[in-house]
Amino acid sequence: MTDSFGREITYMRISVTDLCNLRCRYCMPAEGVVKKNHDDIMSEDEIINAIEAASELGISKIRFTGGEPLVKKNIVSICRRTSEIPGIKEICITTNGILLPNFADSLRLAGVERVNISLDTLRPERYSYITRGGSLNDAVKGIESAIRTGFRVKINAVIIGGFNDDEISGLAGLTMNDDIDIRFIELMPMTETVTAGNFVASRKILDVLPDIEPLESDGVAEMYRLKNARGRIGFISPVSDSFCQKCNRIRLTADGYLKPCLHSAAEIFIRHKSREEMKNLIADAIISKPERHMLNENYHTDSLRTMNRIGG
Ligand code: 5AD
Ligand code: SF4
Repeated sequence: MTDSFGREITYMRISVTDLCNLRCRYCMPAEGVVKKNHDDIMSEDEIINAIEAASELGISKIRFTGGEPLVKKNIVSICRRTSEIPGIKEICITTNGILLPNFADSLRLAGVERVNISLDTLRPERYSYITRGGSLNDAVKGIESAIRTGFRVKINAVIIGGFNDDEISGLAGLTMNDDIDIRFIELMPMTETVTAGNFVASRKILDVLPDIEPLESDGVAEMYRLKNARGRIGFISPVSDSFCQKCNRIRLTADGYLKPCLHSAAEIFIRHKSREEMKNLIADAIISKPERHMLNENYHTDSLRTMNRIGG
């Protein structure tokens, strides 16, 4: 379905839980997350209903996010049922990778083809700091198991000034020997703990990487390759170069709200509805997608949620 600005909306990101086994500083509030009542979270059947309704409106790509989607008990079943819906051509997951060694095989069998894994640093003590207690070794094992299982693997790295901006070359180097993408995502102002002073524009990251050749862009990512590398490097620049005109997505939160735009406060509640009502509400969300967001490095998001409650 096409929105009011001529954009074809084909992609729905679904946050299946706002809980996470890590607590990244730019994503989660310092106090953590209060576990919601079971009844306040979309059930598996409701999620599948919503995907069926969305597929009838032209959604063909689904990405499951969180929080951390692999802490959701029935994630494999949700993926398998999604893969059986006519019209759904691609199922992806965004994960921190910690639980991937336990799940990689069953997710692959359930029809998931792509996994994006978050990794901001290659230094164990920094990993533990930014994730408030996570183990780098566990994340690396997750990445290795994803590659071994045959997923298309993308690594998401958020560069934060004064924290990991000295690791740009090291992270980019992960693409030398494996056919994986690393994508540098600009820090979006979502929590108070990570402030505007730490923003690093994609342009600055690119400057640190000589010997890099441009490739054709891939969706909202500008793509490059290091000389002789097997994998690719992508830049996602929501802040310095808003790509809203290319936006093809809507979002569904774990508590059942459609978000027409990541950075807008607008939300549409779709729980306790029939399939037909759900479909109409999803169409409303697509029609009401704003033209663009107003985010910049000093302007905080208008979204009323931190990232763990949206899913990126
Ligand atoms: N800015 C940019 N990226 C973010 N993510 C979470 N919070 C932010 C933020 N404030 C990223 C995570 C993960 C994906 C789901 O979103 O690093 O890769
Ligand atoms: Fe968890 Fe991902 Fe948020 Fe980190 S960025 S706290 S891994 S949901």
